Amino acid sequence: MEKGLVIGASGGVGAALAEALEAQGTDVVRLSRSSHGLDLRDADSIERVMGQVQGPFEAVLIATGLLAPPGEGPEKALATIDARSMAEVIQVNAIGPSLLLRHAPRLLPRGRRSVLGVLSARVGSIGDNRLGGWHSYRASKAALNQIVRGAAIELARTHREAVVAALHPGTVATPFTSAYEPPRGKLSPDEAARRLLAVLTRLTPAETGRFWDHEGREVPW
Ligand SMILES: NC(=O)c1ccc[n+]([C@@H]2O[C@H](COP(=O)([O-])OP(=O)(O)OC[C@H]3O[C@@H](n4cnc5c(N)ncnc54)[C@H](OP(=O)(O)O)[C@@H]3O)[C@@H](O)[C@H]2O)c1
Repeated sequence: MEKGLVIGASGGVGAALAEALEAQGTDVVRLSRSSHGLDLRDADSIERVMGQVQGPFEAVLIATGLLAPPGEGPEKALATIDARSMAEVIQVNAIGPSLLLRHAPRLLPRGRRSVLGVLSARVGSIGDNRLGGWHSYRASKAALNQIVRGAAIELARTHREAVVAALHPGTVATPFTSAYEPPRGKLSPDEAARRLLAVLTRLTPAETGRFWDHEGREVPW
């Protein structure tokens, strides 16, 4: 039986990804801050929890993320950028996942196919930024994307069958988007998870280190 690891399995998309993997017959290890004390703002907690995880896993999914610190919202204008808030968003969305990725070489199998999907966001695309605003969140996801790209390059040297992908899940109905009513509606977490797993299933090792949306379309960096 294949093994899967979902980090951020307490979240809307993370929980749906874990369920979708299980529905495919994958044996899933779920990790989260709320269940395991894995706090992406605390490097020691990351090392403590990740050090206990035994791989290898055919699928590793990082589904953590923060739009803005609790009680705050993403910036609408440059004037509202706050150093402490920005640092927290970058810590959770870019630095924390980087510390998780330190463990990727050990967690992925060598010599056979594996996927490592990291939840990013289309608004982290610099080329696609037409509206401005959301400065901290956008910057944090742009930084995350660069780390994912670097991880893919490094892993390809030792894990030739690995597929590493930054993923945009769509606008999904989770606590993350509870304050927003987009004109085109939201995907259910189950539908988003189904689509993301379908994208990962189709990708080949030759396509590692790129940024894809839930419909399998490449997103510009
Ligand atoms: N929903 C959308 O429309 C949408 C759109 C684009 C991109 N995304 C991305 O998709 C990913 C998942 O989003 P979601 O909608 O599932 O969000 P969600 O339901 O709010 O879940 C967020 C997850 O992140 C975890 N998390 C937050 N702060 C953390 C911290 N300091 N340390 C460890 N874990 C932390 C939460 O853990 P606990 O609950 O255990 O604290 C939870 O598992 C995020 O990366 C988000 O940026 C979402």
